[in-house]
Amino acid sequence: MELPSLYSLIADDMKAVDAVIRQRLHSEVVLVRQVAEYIVGGGGKRMRPALVLMSAKAMGYEGNKHHELAAVVEFIHTATLLHDDVVDESDLRRGRDTANALFGNAASVLVGDFLYSRAFQMMVGVGSMKIQQVLADATNVIAEGEVLQLMNCHNADIDVEEYLQVIRYKTAKLFQAAARLGAILGGATPEVEEGLARYGMHLGTAFQLVDDVLDYSGEEAETGKHIGDDLAEGKPTLPLIHVLKHGTPAQAACVRKAIEEGGRDMFPEVLAAVKASGALEAARTHAQAEAQIAVDSIAQLPASIYKNALIELPAFSVVRRF
Ligand code: IPE
Ligand code: IPE
Ligand code: MG
Ligand code: MG
Repeated sequence: MELPSLYSLIADDMKAVDAVIRQRLHSEVVLVRQVAEYIVGGGGKRMRPALVLMSAKAMGYEGNKHHELAAVVEFIHTATLLHDDVVDESDLRRGRDTANALFGNAASVLVGDFLYSRAFQMMVGVGSMKIQQVLADATNVIAEGEVLQLMNCHNADIDVEEYLQVIRYKTAKLFQAAARLGAILGGATPEVEEGLARYGMHLGTAFQLVDDVLDYSGEEAETGKHIGDDLAEGKPTLPLIHVLKHGTPAQAACVRKAIEEGGRDMFPEVLAAVKASGALEAARTHAQAEAQIAVDSIAQLPASIYKNALIELPAFSVVRRF
């Protein structure tokens, strides 16, 4: 199923979340407003807020805290993007110049901090210690993930398990928090809450595996990001690790050199090696397996249209082109 039809179930709630986002972006400081509205104005898939809403609804939640929490999760996500694009030296996101390209690194880092701290103000307003714990832990783990990734830049000896730890921390943790928040709002039993958390973790892992595939094989017009950013940074993602392990000696040597040196010069040869060794299919197959674990993790949820949407979301994450 396509994202728009999955979202049609929660269209009114997503509108409410959008209103919260717009309202909470407000600051008396002009540059904060400019940068924050610029990145939010670029849109984005809004997968994490959708996850909060669907998971809350699947648990029968009928209050209105889910809108605020969905916005909190999107703010945390947006803050990580502002920081990530500085670290990755990326200059295209959501089909337009990145905030760092337009406003500079300093403004991006500082407005990222504004969004993190605004998210924490909002979450305190919701008034649940358990929810605060989930979001504080997730935010801390995301930061660890980005640092772990930094430590592994230019490391051609990373193994698959170390790579998976990076993507679980930097990306899947927030998907997990989003799904868990819905469970908590909906008063899920501990078993069901753990099931939804597990679902989020595996969905997020599948999502990042495919993001790393799209960095080699995507269309910039669809992803809204430049292809080859990961290689430029010497990031050893799964497509490259696959070539190192399963490619011919010549392919592996080429990829090792490209990881160690970074830059874009070797991109054509690396892409050829990635394609010829079946690395992209292997990474998508790995994503598919993660998606299946996600689906299996919510078997105990009561039947509903929202549960059906949660079941469809991992499949979308695997086949997505944007
Ligand atoms: C980008 O996330 C960062 C990753 C974790 C891969 P998304 O692909 O969800 O970005 P937007 O919000 O849709 O732009
Ligand atoms: C996702 O990793 C980083 C975050 C969790 C912020 P990427 O660096 O692959 O994300 P993109 O490709 O820049 O969106
Ligand atoms: Mg990046
Ligand atoms: Mg990426």
